[in-house]
Amino acid sequence: MATLFLIFLLSLAINSPPSSSTSDTLSRASSLSVEKPEDVLISPDGVFTAGFHQVGNNSYCFAIWFSEPSSSSDRHQNPTVVWTANRDRPVNGKRSKLSLLKTGNLILTDAGQSIVWATTTTSLSPAHLTLHSSGNLVLRNSDDHVVLWQSFDSPTDTLLPLQPFTRNAMLVSTRSQSNSSSGFYKLFFNNDNLLRLLFDGLEVSSVYWPDPSRVSWDNARSTYNNTRTAMLDSLGSFVSSDNLTFMSTDYGARLQRMLRIDFDGNVRLYSRERAGEKWVVSWQAISDPCKVHGTCGANSVCSYDLGFGRKCLCLPGYNMRNLTDWSFGCEPQFDLSYTKGNESTFLKLSQVEFNGYDFNSYTNYSYMECESICLKLENCKGFQYTLDPGNGFYNCNPKTQLRSGHMSDSQGYLYLRLPKAFLLSNGSGIKAPKDYGLICTDRVIDLNRNYVKSHVSKPVKFLLWFACGVGGFEIVCILLFLCLLNSRTRKKSNEDMQQGYLLAATGFKRFSYAELKKATRGFSEEIGRGAGGLVYKGVLDDERVAAVKLLNEAIQGEAEFLAEVSTLGRLNHMHLIEMWGYCSEGKHKLLVYEYMEHGSLAQNLSSNVLDWEKRFEIAVGTAKGLAYLHEECLEWVLHCDVKPQNILLDSNYQPKVADFGLSKLFNRGELKNSSFSRIRGTRGYIAPEWVCNLPITSKVDVYSYGIVVLEMVTGKNPMMGGDAFDGEQRRLISWMREKVNGTSSIKLQIEEIIDSSFEGEYDVEKVEVLLKVALHCVEEDKDDRPTMRQVVEMLLHLDEDC
Ligand SMILES: *[C@@H]1O[C@H](CO)[C@@H](O)[C@H](O)[C@H]1NC(C)=O
Ligand SMILES: *[C@@H]1O[C@H](CO)[C@@H](O)[C@H](O)[C@H]1NC(C)=O
Ligand SMILES: *[C@@H]1O[C@H](CO)[C@@H](O)[C@H](O)[C@H]1NC(C)=O
Ligand SMILES: *[C@@H]1O[C@H](CO)[C@@H](O)[C@H](O)[C@H]1NC(C)=O
Ligand SMILES: *[C@@H]1O[C@H](CO)[C@@H](O)[C@H](O)[C@H]1NC(C)=O
Ligand SMILES: *[C@@H]1O[C@H](CO)[C@@H](O)[C@H](O)[C@H]1NC(C)=O
Ligand SMILES: *[C@@H]1O[C@H](CO)[C@@H](O)[C@H](O)[C@H]1NC(C)=O
Ligand SMILES: *[C@@H]1O[C@H](CO)[C@@H](O)[C@H](O)[C@H]1NC(C)=O
Repeated sequence: MATLFLIFLLSLAINSPPSSSTSDTLSRASSLSVEKPEDVLISPDGVFTAGFHQVGNNSYCFAIWFSEPSSSSDRHQNPTVVWTANRDRPVNGKRSKLSLLKTGNLILTDAGQSIVWATTTTSLSPAHLTLHSSGNLVLRNSDDHVVLWQSFDSPTDTLLPLQPFTRNAMLVSTRSQSNSSSGFYKLFFNNDNLLRLLFDGLEVSSVYWPDPSRVSWDNARSTYNNTRTAMLDSLGSFVSSDNLTFMSTDYGARLQRMLRIDFDGNVRLYSRERAGEKWVVSWQAISDPCKVHGTCGANSVCSYDLGFGRKCLCLPGYNMRNLTDWSFGCEPQFDLSYTKGNESTFLKLSQVEFNGYDFNSYTNYSYMECESICLKLENCKGFQYTLDPGNGFYNCNPKTQLRSGHMSDSQGYLYLRLPKAFLLSNGSGIKAPKDYGLICTDRVIDLNRNYVKSHVSKPVKFLLWFACGVGGFEIVCILLFLCLLNSRTRKKSNEDMQQGYLLAATGFKRFSYAELKKATRGFSEEIGRGAGGLVYKGVLDDERVAAVKLLNEAIQGEAEFLAEVSTLGRLNHMHLIEMWGYCSEGKHKLLVYEYMEHGSLAQNLSSNVLDWEKRFEIAVGTAKGLAYLHEECLEWVLHCDVKPQNILLDSNYQPKVADFGLSKLFNRGELKNSSFSRIRGTRGYIAPEWVCNLPITSKVDVYSYGIVVLEMVTGKNPMMGGDAFDGEQRRLISWMREKVNGTSSIKLQIEEIIDSSFEGEYDVEKVEVLLKVALHCVEEDKDDRPTMRQVVEMLLHLDEDC
């Protein structure tokens, strides 16, 4: 027994530290200490080192890095880190260690106390941790050599040659050059099978690569292969299952390489000839750094200039919000509540372009028309007024937010809205738009990239320098020539850009379930229930009040859900409820909308707070929202459930249509055959086509809209009594038809029809038109009904006449 015990002790002594090893392996029941700089693992070829790396004052991360720093002058600086275990939870410089437990679990303890990171692996036979020459740190079971865990499966911001990038992996940039915790930029395979770059910021998130204003095939990507894998080989060729392939400019040579998502949001391939040399960029995803989203925050413009690099500028009248960090953007120096139209004016900025966040896109609008649209909108921050080169007219895009602004050579302007008083009092202090007039910046970047691309040999380098010295003048000429050439070829691509304009990223965010649970305080305050599920009030992290809809119906597959949701998220109209984001985690599917202060039209009708003027405006606004859904947006979206419960009112009693597009989300497949169960919508508001099994078109929404308007005028709820398709609803309609078409004085007839709560306070002419339009909308035959656009015109025409 005693000898056995002795042997056991001996074996412990042999197995455990002092591990001042320059070994590549950490064995069972031993650990690496933060206090001993020599406690590291070194790969067999000496290229990689794993150990504790200092990230701040007395804070360390367990990391893998290239053993040789990047150049001799950098020797005292940080090494090139390729993987980090605990990037968001650095450990103390005292008593912290990485230990391989007997159970097979690899843990990182902070100051000898809490566990900040673990592989949560178990192994019956002894396990050992080895740093391979590939840079992969592998935990293996020593009996059957099964890989229990490896660092290649959970990359941080870097991909090494031969490291597979899979559907579950994600590269996340660092927060800044000096702060190695998780930042805002992410590279991953999206649900549409494309490798994408996402800016996932504090307030908004948006995809910016490949170019969101183009469709995937224009970006030479394919959405069909759902393998979702990619790999960089050791010769410098990258192949991804979405057909993205590229070669490094120094392809072929046996170099050290790495692909990294940098803190500035760009993905770059780096290479160096041998240890100790500087890293050279041999490929990058984005050539114009201003195309990266989130760089400059809201209300600012990104500009790139070869001499100065990338810089951010605040819009005139705006100041930087946080002087140390551009991601906070700029804030107005003036009071944002432009109350009355005549109190604001517009400042013209040329070659400044803001993408997304449009109220709407108006084609072929004159400047005056566009200006008056923006003036009418309470929170219009300005508008983009851009020449459509193919057609020779201008398009108008009023903006709710000014984000992702950049210098652009498109032939258009940003008209920035400023209070008149502010502009007058600060007139000369405001930067003239000329300050932003950088021309041809893109060309210079192209040239720069070409330079990196071509693997310049020494004699060529010399020639280049010679040319620079002697031929400065010629280079200027060449640049000018390139500018001209490019602005010609550019014209065509501008057209494509215009088409995809609405597609471009809007402020749409993916939320986590936990985040929304917290925001709604555990789904405690119910504010409504609709066909799709219950709606709760919540307060988001940025203090915006939101309505969170918890979908309870069977939803189609994950990919379809995301496709539909991103379609809905792109719809942007002042009379449509704005969707801020969604959540999709397993069976939890949620949608996040703006919160409407005054609740639904149904609530307001029953509590009698709506006077005649408000009701008329609600009828017009609702018609505009539906007309946009039917005609102006990119995809055909039928509402299929128009009713007062789905028309919400904001603080000014302006209507916003809610719950549109949801019918597409739910499983409809099995409902197709039965004529009865395929019915969508709500009793009392359902068009006859649903019952008669006729084709369903946008006219079903026109019918329901007609019923809603009748309800607003008469105060009579069509759902009261009667059955769904006959009875009350039809009787009400035919009774009103008789009244309106009757022979006696219209004034008298109206008195009989309309809601008694008006007490005579209404405009006879408007009531008449509203009634006529409504009755026109509820014609039995769908072809007799007007389109929503015609409804808007009929109502607006009247409005102008009065
Ligand atoms: C680093 O930490 C030490 C001890 O906690 C402190 O004395 C020193 O001022 C700190 N240095 C910086 C730059 O914060
Ligand atoms: C790095 O950034 C994170 C997130 O913004 C912050 O919490 C942390 O304090 C920063 N660390 C340093 C050393 O600045
Ligand atoms: C993939 O790219 C190659 C050329 O880069 C092209 O010929 C091919 O048609 C592409 N395939 C798909 C499916 O887009
Ligand atoms: C999908 O991509 C993988 C990885 O690039 C490739 O091996 C496979 O052949 C592709 N499948 C199809 C059907 O193109
Ligand atoms: C600016 O941002 C930094 C880093 O996020 C933060 O530490 C600082 O408090 C902020 N300053 C202001 C004035 O908000
Ligand atoms: C703005 O319009 C209001 C009425 O709409 C008018 O009373 C006011 O004088 C106008 N202000 C200016 C500066 O024109
Ligand atoms: C643009 O609008 C003007 C004025 O409304 C009209 O004359 C012109 O034909 C329109 N152009 C196109 C291409 O629709
Ligand atoms: C701009 O005008 C406002 C009043 O409209 C004033 O409060 C502010 O100090 C002025 N700013 C500058 C830079 O002159």
